Amino acid sequence: MGALSQFRAGVIGAGVFAEANLYPSLSLHFFDDLERAAVCDLDTGRAERLAGKYGWGSIYNDFRKMLDTEKLDAVFVCLGGAHHPEVATAVLERGLPVFLEKPSSIDVEGTRRIAQAAAKAGRIVQVGHQKRHGLAYNRAREIIGDRERFGTVVQIESKMHGFTVFPTFYTCMLEWQCHNLDLVVSFGGDIAEIQSMAFRQTEKTGGLVSLLRFQSGALGTLAWGTYGGPGQFAERIEILGDRGRGVIVTNAREVTCYDEDVGETWAPDWNPISRNQSHVFNGYVGELRHFIDCVREGREPVPSIHDEVKTMDWLARIAGGAGIPLEWAPVSSAL
Ligand SMILES: NC(=O)c1ccc[n+]([C@@H]2O[C@H](COP(=O)([O-])OP(=O)(O)OC[C@H]3O[C@@H](n4cnc5c(N)ncnc54)[C@H](O)[C@@H]3O)[C@@H](O)[C@H]2O)c1
Repeated sequence: MGALSQFRAGVIGAGVFAEANLYPSLSLHFFDDLERAAVCDLDTGRAERLAGKYGWGSIYNDFRKMLDTEKLDAVFVCLGGAHHPEVATAVLERGLPVFLEKPSSIDVEGTRRIAQAAAKAGRIVQVGHQKRHGLAYNRAREIIGDRERFGTVVQIESKMHGFTVFPTFYTCMLEWQCHNLDLVVSFGGDIAEIQSMAFRQTEKTGGLVSLLRFQSGALGTLAWGTYGGPGQFAERIEILGDRGRGVIVTNAREVTCYDEDVGETWAPDWNPISRNQSHVFNGYVGELRHFIDCVREGREPVPSIHDEVKTMDWLARIAGGAGIPLEWAPVSSAL
């Protein structure tokens, strides 16, 4: 097989999260077919520093100028939900596919605008829910995908504890538990019915539980809220099939598969050749590879912006049903 042609990409955003995950993932994990063409941030100092550290070419502080000047195959956008609709639609209008960090927007309307622009341009947008591509969740998907042995999914129990840095309750959901919802629907399918209840201890803190019925008829439970995370015990999902089997993923790492007789636990192996394996375990490397492959092969990615419109809508309904105002406020990853 011949070498792949170079995939010429630009990044808009050189903030804290991009520095911690996006740039190192794209530069230190064998993206040999990637041409690191250009970086843009309003803060030129940060753009210069990250471009220098991770081997990117030109530097811009005006993303429109970058798009006009560079001949790119795709753009990675990592700015924040309040900026994403404007920037992502402008990139799509120039005919380029977009990898878009979550949250895609701060409201469903913004996400819908991006989806419409993607449909109009005939270009893909993948949303940065990296858990879909995490190693442990992929292992769970393999187990569940063996329909002969696992059967049909009948019930999903999921928790993702929040933490108290978020300026509003809904900001915690939009910035953090959106990942959990994306994951739950990736296993359960579309949601038909939602009931939720919150303990609103203060304006910005409390507990939240939700009952879901998927369109398949299967049931789901969510335990979220603003306490308990983001540490070691924050995350757990259990998926039950109708052939006596189930699978549990604990803290995005450990996968236990059980049936009536025996349980077996699997954890991803450590490979010392990679400099920061958590970029791989957590799914950052996998999602970025998936995006490039989907652009190259003309495939719809997961999760796509069209999946995301539904997820954003369900997220708002979960909050609304529990009396949580749909109020978002800025928060930095430099917590
Ligand atoms: N997937 C995850 O696990 C995960 C985790 C944390 C944060 N995030 C997401 O990453 C994104 C960035 O978060 P952050 O905490 O790094 O924010 P940040 O404020 O540190 O970075 C945002 C950067 O965008 C730049 N910017 C804003 N508007 C711009 C424009 N029009 N043109 C060019 N640059 C512009 C700012 O100058 C800043 O450097 C957010 O969407 C956040 O939700 C994802």
